[in-house]
Amino acid sequence: MARGTSRLGEAGVPSPRVDAEILAAHVLGVSRSQLLLSDGFTEQALLEYVKAVETRASGVPVQHITGRAPFRHVELAVGPGVFVPRPETELLADWGLAALAGHSRPVVVDLCSGSGAIALAVANERPDATVFAVERSPEALTWLRRNAAERSEAGDPPVTVVEGDVADASVLAELNGTVDLVLCNPPYVPLGTKVAVEVDHDPPQAVFGGAEGLDLIPAVIRTAARLLGSGGSFAVEHDETHGAEVPALLREDGRFAVIRLRYDLAQRARYTTAHKA
Ligand SMILES: C[S@@+](CC[C@H](N)C(=O)[O-])C[C@H]1O[C@@H](n2cnc3c(N)ncnc32)[C@H](O)[C@@H]1O
Repeated sequence: MARGTSRLGEAGVPSPRVDAEILAAHVLGVSRSQLLLSDGFTEQALLEYVKAVETRASGVPVQHITGRAPFRHVELAVGPGVFVPRPETELLADWGLAALAGHSRPVVVDLCSGSGAIALAVANERPDATVFAVERSPEALTWLRRNAAERSEAGDPPVTVVEGDVADASVLAELNGTVDLVLCNPPYVPLGTKVAVEVDHDPPQAVFGGAEGLDLIPAVIRTAARLLGSGGSFAVEHDETHGAEVPALLREDGRFAVIRLRYDLAQRARYTTAHKA
């Protein structure tokens, strides 16, 4: 594994040791924490490991090699056609779950659901919630349905997958004014931004939000305002450069109160939260 770590380090992979361990565990069919106890590589496994390390060194995300991505307490199947969930989005899910404290049997909507990471994490941690996941891309929907089925087989309550455009006023119209929490991680990177090589493996429509990165956010805000009941909670992830624009869009809408910009541990503006007035 030391050779795998140094190869990934040379290739400029940001967390070479973690990735070398994840790939070794994947090839050996054990969890990362079981690696020390495993018997080590057979000749065949070593060949597979070297191949996996070289694939990672070429810029393929580790999650595309293993086919799995962790998100809070769940693990999602991922691959070409779906956005790989990022650890920073766990903060948004965390805020949403905290906002549900004191609500029993809440109704939750995840807009732009992708692999279903947010929706399935909420269903896992709040089994009394009724959760809806809205997604437009047919490729992403295939992964989302697969993940929803896997989680429900694992014992989590089922999440309702909705094929639709979050800008469409008829999407989930039957829930208008009744939802307790709307969460959204939309495409928000401004076109032309230089992104890490791994991001090239995410579908462009999942990453880029038009010239300024703000193309979809006004529609997401309108949809959240339509769905939420009075006092309902809303959080939307956005580009770190949009710490002024997104709160301003929420104020402009006029239907939200307690609008707050939230930061990640590196003090980057990461998402904005609000409550339906
Ligand atoms: C940044 S990804 C987020 C995926 C997932 N929520 C996560 O956090 O890992 C954005 C997702 O929004 C979807 N999307 C983009 N435009 C959409 C639209 N107008 N309506 C519904 N989904 C949309 C993309 O297909 C993609 O899956």
